[in-house]
Amino acid sequence: MAKLAINGGAPIKKKPFPKWPVWDHHELNNLKEVIESGKWGSMQGDKVKTFTAKYAEHHQAKHGICVNSGTIALSIALKSSGIGCGEEVIVPGYTFVASATAILDVGAIPVFVDIDPQTYNIDVTKIEAAITKKTTAVMPVHFGGRPVDMDSLLKISKKHNLKIIEDAAQAWGSEWNHKKVGAIGDAGGFSFQSSKNVTSAEGGIILTNDDDIAKFCRSHSNCGRVDGGVWYEHYYLGGNFRMTEFQAAVLLAQFERYPEMKKKREKNAQFLSEHLSQIDGIEVMKNDPRITGNSIHLFIWRYKKEHFNNLPKAKFIEALQKEGIILSAGYSIPLYTQPLFKNLAFGPRGKRADVGVDYNSYFLPETERACYEEALWLPQFVMLGDEDDMKDIVNAVVKVKENINELKS
Ligand SMILES: Cc1ncc(COP(=O)(O)O)c(C=O)c1O
Repeated sequence: MAKLAINGGAPIKKKPFPKWPVWDHHELNNLKEVIESGKWGSMQGDKVKTFTAKYAEHHQAKHGICVNSGTIALSIALKSSGIGCGEEVIVPGYTFVASATAILDVGAIPVFVDIDPQTYNIDVTKIEAAITKKTTAVMPVHFGGRPVDMDSLLKISKKHNLKIIEDAAQAWGSEWNHKKVGAIGDAGGFSFQSSKNVTSAEGGIILTNDDDIAKFCRSHSNCGRVDGGVWYEHYYLGGNFRMTEFQAAVLLAQFERYPEMKKKREKNAQFLSEHLSQIDGIEVMKNDPRITGNSIHLFIWRYKKEHFNNLPKAKFIEALQKEGIILSAGYSIPLYTQPLFKNLAFGPRGKRADVGVDYNSYFLPETERACYEEALWLPQFVMLGDEDDMKDIVNAVVKVKENINELKS
C-alpha cells in the first residue's frame, strides 16, 4: 500500500499551519478611531506621522517617509538619491521584479549580478566586475530577510563612489552587526504588502539618515511640494504616493506585535536549519555571525535532486504539499529572462526601448540553479507555527525521502 499522500497515503500534517494576516481588536480600534475622527488623510491625522517616527526609530534611522507601496519606496529612494536617466544600477538576478522596475522607473538601467548560493543574496565578490563608467548605484536586496554583507558592500561603494539603495522590502528589523538594515546605505525601501510580516495590505516606507535625500523623498511622494510650502506650489516632479491614515492605523497595531513574532520565526528557523540540514540532499543557508537579526520573511532551503532519485523539484514540492506542508518553488525563472527584459519592453504599451543592454545574453548560473533546480521557500506565516509544525515539515521531507521509490524520477 502507498505511504506517500501523493499516492493516497495518510498525510503527515493533521493540524493546519497558522493563518495570515494576524489581527485583533487593536487593528479594529485604531481603524474605528480614524473613521470617527474624520481625519482620513495623512495631512490631517497623526497616525502616519506616529507610525513613521516609531518605525524609523526602531530601525535606527533619522528619517522615514511613508508611501503607498514598496515599489514606489524604491523608485523614490533612487530618485531622491540622484539616480536618473541612463545610469546603471547593479541589482541581483534573483529578486522580485520591483527591485529592477524601480530602477527602470527612474530612467536608469538594471545590471544583473549573480547570487551567492549560500545566502541567495547578491554575490558581493561579483559586483566590481559589473561596474562600468555609467554605474552610479547598487541595490542590495536583503532577500527573504537575510542581510546582505554590508561590510563588503560599503567598501565597494566607497571605492567606486556608488550610492547604496537597499531593497529591504522583506527585511523589517533584520540586522547586520547589530545595525538594522534599510538605512545602512544611502536609503532603503520596505514593503507592507499583504504577504509581508508587517502589513496593511499595501504600503511602504523609505528610511534614510541623509537630510537632503529625506527632503526629496517627501517632495517626490507628495506632488513635488516642499516642506512648509504652499499647497498648490510644486517645485519638483512628483506624484501622490501618500499613505492613508487607515494603513497607518493597521500598521501601528501590526508593529506592536512584530518583535515577538520575529523572535518566534527566528527560533523556528534555527530548528529547521538544524534538523533539515541533517537530511542528505537538503541544504540550508550559511550561518553568518554578523547577522544579528533576520525577519525570516522566507525560510529558504535548497534541494539536491541527485539525493532524491533525481526527482524534479516540482514533483518533490508536490509530494510535500500533499503531505500538508505549505511551501513554494519561489521564482520560476530568472528575472532577466522575463518577457519584460528579453523584449526590452520598457516603453509605453511595451514599446521596445533600446537601453544598450541585451538581457538575452545574460546567464547567471546560481540564479538559474535557484530558480530551476534548488530553491524552496517556506512563507513567513508557516514560520509562526509551534514546534510540532516544524517537526511536521522535517518529518514530511524524511517521509518523501524514505519512500522515494514510490515516485518516478
Ligand atoms: C524584494 C522585493 N522588492 C520590492 C517589493 C515591492 O513591494 P510592493 O509589493 O509593496 O510594491 C517586494 C514585494 O513584493 C519584494 O519582495
